[in-house]
Amino acid sequence: MATTLEILSYVVALLVVLYYYFTAKFNFWRDRSVPGPKPIPVFGNIFWPMIGKQPLAQFLTDLYREYKNEPLIGIFVRRTPHLVVQDPDLIKDVLIKDFPKFANRGFLLHEVAEPLSPHLFSLEAKRWRPLRSQLSPVFTSGKLKGIFSLILDCAKHLENYLDTLVKKGEPIEVRELAAQYTTDVIGSCVFGIEMKSLSDEESEFRRMGREIFATHLKALLKFRMKECMGGLYNLLGYILPTDEVNKFFMKITIETLTYRKEHNVVRPDFMNILLELRNNPERVKDIKLTDKLLAAQAFVFFAAGFETSSTTITNVLYELALNEEVQKKLREEIKEFDQKTDGQWRYETIKEMTYLDKVFKETLRKYPPLAFLFREATDNYTFKSTKVSIPKGSRVWIPIFSIQRDPDIYPDPEKFDPERFSEDAVKARNPMHYLSFGDGPRNCIGARFAIYQTKIGLIKILRNYQVQVCENTPIPYELEPVAFILCPKGKLYLKIVKNEI
Ligand code: HEM
Repeated sequence: MATTLEILSYVVALLVVLYYYFTAKFNFWRDRSVPGPKPIPVFGNIFWPMIGKQPLAQFLTDLYREYKNEPLIGIFVRRTPHLVVQDPDLIKDVLIKDFPKFANRGFLLHEVAEPLSPHLFSLEAKRWRPLRSQLSPVFTSGKLKGIFSLILDCAKHLENYLDTLVKKGEPIEVRELAAQYTTDVIGSCVFGIEMKSLSDEESEFRRMGREIFATHLKALLKFRMKECMGGLYNLLGYILPTDEVNKFFMKITIETLTYRKEHNVVRPDFMNILLELRNNPERVKDIKLTDKLLAAQAFVFFAAGFETSSTTITNVLYELALNEEVQKKLREEIKEFDQKTDGQWRYETIKEMTYLDKVFKETLRKYPPLAFLFREATDNYTFKSTKVSIPKGSRVWIPIFSIQRDPDIYPDPEKFDPERFSEDAVKARNPMHYLSFGDGPRNCIGARFAIYQTKIGLIKILRNYQVQVCENTPIPYELEPVAFILCPKGKLYLKIVKNEI
């Protein structure tokens, strides 16, 4: 039998091994003379975000302010070195000029446990490249014009639904309202299915949407396990049943594709492009085009498409409730175009609405749904005009939330001021200082679609109603500390009343 002393020495040996494991790379940035805060074992520099007490956006902003004049900052996410790039020229190199060396996002895929994880957002460059070029045409102006009427139909449902809600005279939870609307839009434009999220509280798609972005304990534990023990998490996929979300989207995509093929259904939507790909697999050379891979792409358009836009609608309404003058001016523009077009909104009309565009952009400046962009070096790389070299596989973060709240770039950054997006103001700024949709070949593929679904939803709400703060409105705005997408903490209530005129 082992003596107490032996047990103690095993424990000490284990602790030494663990300590070495967690700290072995902690000289990484010092060796490269890159400044940064001192890490601690297990957590690296992200102790507060990891225990759910601080949003990563806030952590990065504190860091940005502390190292304001540094082009590069070295941090540790648990034990892995990450480089935060702050200098706009270096950001441009990463996103655009030297993109081939940063074509990955650096996600670990868990294809057994989560068959839908190999989607456009997460895929490594080899599979991403051909898929992106095949899927991009779905968002061209011509295609969007084709589906414009589908978005308008959903916006009409939003108008009717809001009518019934407003009649109750109670404060309205706008996060849920906006999510129901964007779920309907994506359902119609991506899957070709009427989701009825606005009229049916039990809508299956809405339930799945909630689950994808859930922050309850089970979801958080799963997320942490993926991050910290990705290999084990994936292996569990061989034993445990596939989760509900993955099962649901696999089933719905494959059923829709099969139905359309058998019944020769052609619709100007995303499923159609997937169907064409399925029928012509030679278009994506070098990759195996399975039904799972196709379903993963449909899934990411749903996941990336509804919550980002619905949070943006929420944030616009919140800022308008606080800034009555801006709201008044925007409503005047909406009324002007409503009259000009006789209420027949067209694709081109939205483009002409310059004030709406400024309000939209200013909202995304203050609240970019992705607080930072991420890339992984696909080769060894030396940053220009610096001596900093990073090896292949290194992670790079671009802190857009922090940049877009920098008082030297956007004076008085907490102020909501759409005039920051006047033509002259935009020209005077470095384009790398506004990255809400990212930039370069791996930017947001759905940006144009997002702009239309968000703006049309806003037009329909503001044409007939005024938004006001009420006693349940959270002031000041607090960020949710654990969500993947930058969003308000908890529910967001506003009072919505019928326009007097
Ligand atoms: C206000 C709404 C939205 C915002 C602010 C937004 C923002 C972003 C950002 C910042 C990225 C990363 C870009 C980069 O790394 O350079 C991204 C990627 C992506 N977004 Fe969006 N997004 C929005 C709406 C949408 C919509 C509506 C869709 C689809 C219907 C969509 C689909 C995607 C996909 C698939 C990617 C990955 C692209 C790739 O890696 O090739 N997004 N988005």
